[in-house]
Amino acid sequence: MNKYAVWGNPIAQSKSPEIQQHFAQQQNITLDYQRMLGDEVRFEQQLAQFFASGGQGCNITAPFKERAFRLADLHSERCLMAEACNTLKKLPDGRLYADNTDGAGLVTDLQRLGWLQPQQRILILGAGGATKGVLLPLLQAQQQITLANRTLAKAQQLADKFQSYGSIRAVELDHIPVKPFDVIINATSLGLQGKVVEIKSKIMQKCGLAYDMQYAKGSDTPFIAWAKQCGTAQTTDGIGMLIGQAAHAFEVWFGVMPEVSTLLKNLNL
Ligand code: ATR
Repeated sequence: MNKYAVWGNPIAQSKSPEIQQHFAQQQNITLDYQRMLGDEVRFEQQLAQFFASGGQGCNITAPFKERAFRLADLHSERCLMAEACNTLKKLPDGRLYADNTDGAGLVTDLQRLGWLQPQQRILILGAGGATKGVLLPLLQAQQQITLANRTLAKAQQLADKFQSYGSIRAVELDHIPVKPFDVIINATSLGLQGKVVEIKSKIMQKCGLAYDMQYAKGSDTPFIAWAKQCGTAQTTDGIGMLIGQAAHAFEVWFGVMPEVSTLLKNLNL
């Protein structure tokens, strides 16, 4: 039996088991995929035990992505740049391989939506872990990125770190250029508090596409609600990114990229 899991704390809310089971059925693979509650102190021992007892791979979610990154033996380039891991795989020689499929999941979703053209101007709000996880795949997709963050120094650090991969610059939230952006992506954690990052509404009004990396079942996230109020023509939350990152993790484990559109239509996530 293929033994896989998702580790996090909390973990009960995770949609990963449903998503991965859907992909496994689609590919005729029998999969044992469990939710695992990580312990703040013993997480590394728990993971070692999981792999020692037959675990072949797992997803990692908050708050363990950085710890999983540190305990792996090998890393993909996108994982090294993200300094965080959402996918682990046990290699045949026993070493642990770490990847980060969040950015690929976002890029796949933007492609699915028809929102990805080369050399677009993308505004990303926020410069925390969520942003760092998606920058390399976005730059590799030739996006021109403006990073706006409350703490300018954090955005500037990321812009410096990633500047050899493409066009990226940092600005303060109240110094965002008014020249129109093709897509605005919310990567702040503010939606969790029911809030929206404060930028001038005319920046939003001049942009036709708004994407929230967070998602909310059955209602608009605060950012999406605000974008709609500003008259943004098309909006979407991050459910497609969630499914996309899961699909890329499945590909890391089983070598085949599952089809995502049926899941988006049929699964009640
Ligand atoms: P995550 O892993 O979800 O990205 P994080 O690393 O803590 O979480 O980053 C949270 C992001 O939301 C940061 O960009 C943060 O801005 P700062 O770097 O200035 O802290 C942003 N954020 C959180 N609360 C905010 C607020 N009240 N106003 C503006 N930005 C906020």
